[in-house]
Amino acid sequence: MKIMEIEGGRDLKGTIRISGAKNATVALIPAAILTDEEVTICNIPEITDTEALCDILKDLNVNVKRASESIIINPKEMKNIEITEEHSRRLRASYYFMGALLGKYKKAIMYFPGGCSIGARPIDLHLKGFEALGAKVRSEGNKYIVEAEDLTGANIYLDIASVGATINIMLAAVKAKGKTVIDNAAKEPEIVNIATFLNNMGAKITGAGTSTIQIIGVDYLGSCFHEVIPDRIEAGTYIIVGALCGNPLKIDNLIPEHLDALLSKLEEAGVPLEVGADYVLVQKQDDYKPVNIKTAVYPGFPTDLQQPFTVLQTQSSGKSKTTETIWENRFMHVPYLNALGADITVKNQTATIIGPRKLVGQDVVATDLRAGAAMVAAGLKAEGKTTITNIEHILRGYEQIIEKLTDVGAKITIKEI
Ligand code: EPZ
Repeated sequence: MKIMEIEGGRDLKGTIRISGAKNATVALIPAAILTDEEVTICNIPEITDTEALCDILKDLNVNVKRASESIIINPKEMKNIEITEEHSRRLRASYYFMGALLGKYKKAIMYFPGGCSIGARPIDLHLKGFEALGAKVRSEGNKYIVEAEDLTGANIYLDIASVGATINIMLAAVKAKGKTVIDNAAKEPEIVNIATFLNNMGAKITGAGTSTIQIIGVDYLGSCFHEVIPDRIEAGTYIIVGALCGNPLKIDNLIPEHLDALLSKLEEAGVPLEVGADYVLVQKQDDYKPVNIKTAVYPGFPTDLQQPFTVLQTQSSGKSKTTETIWENRFMHVPYLNALGADITVKNQTATIIGPRKLVGQDVVATDLRAGAAMVAAGLKAEGKTTITNIEHILRGYEQIIEKLTDVGAKITIKEI
């Protein structure tokens, strides 16, 4: 088993360069099969989610060529066969192949995407969108069969501004007959990145990044060259690490506008930030003001940064509150932060954090991806040694995390035990 070991309490100084966005990459790779030619995507992060999706492409007989941080995808010889349950279950986002296969072949057979520890993570809105386009959805055991005689544009209202449903419906609609309108669409920057990719292939999508997206179906999607946007959640995680340990820490190759909610909360807490065109420079302080956060869909405070931000709230003088509105079970990091010395209580969907508290190294567990990120941030701040198990969660979403942190002075290693 692999564990992460951190000797904390050290100042971090230097530059961390942000990689391509995981939550764009996991949609771009399935979207690529919609082309009738060959596409190249650069700035792809080397994370386990990328590997898992490339394995699915190979299952489908898609030609995949990897160069450093870029991928060339050619689906000319692909076969629309059932994706194995083992490969489907390696990451939830494999469900984007449902929308892409439906959009390309009018048929998709996929195993139920695994839920995960932060919530049930249903896909009813995805399936409702497919049905609105004319598909029939049935389940056989633990797999879905989604197929359509024809896909025809429709007006689809999302009860929840779901990122996954917005993207999956876009993938199914790009070659449908006529116009599709998605109302109450999610507005995350990753959605804009996917729409840009599809438009570069020849799709006709307008309104991505707003709550109303319009797609005019086309018959042919061609070749293009595309770049993954920087990962705003990776960037936000390291900015929080900088607020805890930076002396100073520069987080480079990011898009500041994608982090407005976090940056304004950090300023409210009294974190001195220098925000450049594509970087943030952050200097730790000895004292922070307590701030309350409430997660929301973009551009609100991102749920994926709620757990790392809680670590900073443990260092604020006074009472802070964090309310989670997106996922039903996203406080599993709390018992481990308390084991490190924090004073956090959770009632319903709100955590109350009393600070400042000195953190001291402990053995902790990464219960999910962003809880794992919170353990890393806390371990870097804590005096002494922190070990983290279940680190495969962390490696799914943070490219070269050991190298990036070591390069700025952290003592962090991965050990086989
Ligand atoms: C995406 O998940 C991200 N994952 C998540 O990041 C992120 O937390 C989430 O968006 C919210 O920003 C990827 O992009 C791969 P949703 P997604 O559909 O698309 C409910 C990380 O740490 N819902 O926007 O699955 C759902 O239960 C991950 O990188 C339905 O009820 O999220 C949730 O309460 C974790 N029915 C809410 O909507 C549906 O059909 C938002 O979910 C779909 C969603």
